[in-house]
Amino acid sequence: MSFVKRIVLAGLGSMALVAGYAAVSALSNVFYKKGYTAEEIARLIVVAHRGGAALGPENTLLAIERGITSGADMVEIDIHQTSDGKVVVCHDESIDRTTNGRGLIRDLTFEEIRGFNIVDKDGKVTDQKIPTLDEVLDLIDGRVKLLVEIKRTADIYQGIEQQLVDAIAAHNASSWVVAQSFNDSVLEKLHAISPDLRLEKLWVFKLRGVDDAVDGWVNDYSYEKYNYVSSFNFYYRSVTDSLIDEIHRHGKEVKIWTVGSPSDTPHLPVDGIITDHPDLWRTK
Ligand code: G3P
Ligand code: CA
Repeated sequence: MSFVKRIVLAGLGSMALVAGYAAVSALSNVFYKKGYTAEEIARLIVVAHRGGAALGPENTLLAIERGITSGADMVEIDIHQTSDGKVVVCHDESIDRTTNGRGLIRDLTFEEIRGFNIVDKDGKVTDQKIPTLDEVLDLIDGRVKLLVEIKRTADIYQGIEQQLVDAIAAHNASSWVVAQSFNDSVLEKLHAISPDLRLEKLWVFKLRGVDDAVDGWVNDYSYEKYNYVSSFNFYYRSVTDSLIDEIHRHGKEVKIWTVGSPSDTPHLPVDGIITDHPDLWRTK
């Protein structure tokens, strides 16, 4: 496919996504049944989003520890790479929103980043620091599974896929670490480096026949293309029972993000939910 055609399709895909998002959001509020029974909740994989962002400052060791003790089955984090090559845990590519510092992670050394403190949702400076991937692996130590997201900026972060694979090996964590991304090149690199690593594909929408420009990358959708991926993880308003059934028939799990309480979450035949509030899904 020519470059121009890819750009045009990416633009059309983006517009379709925006329109689709508005339509599905409005319709889902009307048509989706909400709520889960205790038996259904017990069968779900509960993932603490950004460590458990409602339980402590997102993507911090404090939130992750609280996410684990809340009874979550899995903790989700986002990783980036400092200018001197350290893998750190933060949602954004800059530290502006979540710390009292400023700048892009890729422009700052690890020492510079550790000079700043995490700021909570109310703007209060905490004693938490941006953690390293190694610190998170040490903290979790196999008590729950860890879902590591590498975002599109991985093409800037040279070798971050190899660093994740090396960290998993160094911490003997292959049985409890999973990786996810919106970005196909990240997933493909991880699969090439470490064929046994469990991988999950993030989607906002799955638009059959239309290229998907999510996260700045054009992806051709097909089950064959993602045969090495174990779970499709969707924005929670963008799936239906029939799509989930279809994905299950192709042997994949489905998780939805980022949901609130059970009573506010669309009732769908998913395998897992990703939430800032794992405590509302587990009683521990
Ligand atoms: O796990 C899904 C979710 O993390 C994707 O959204 O922006 O919170 O990384 P975001
Ligand atoms: Ca994430």
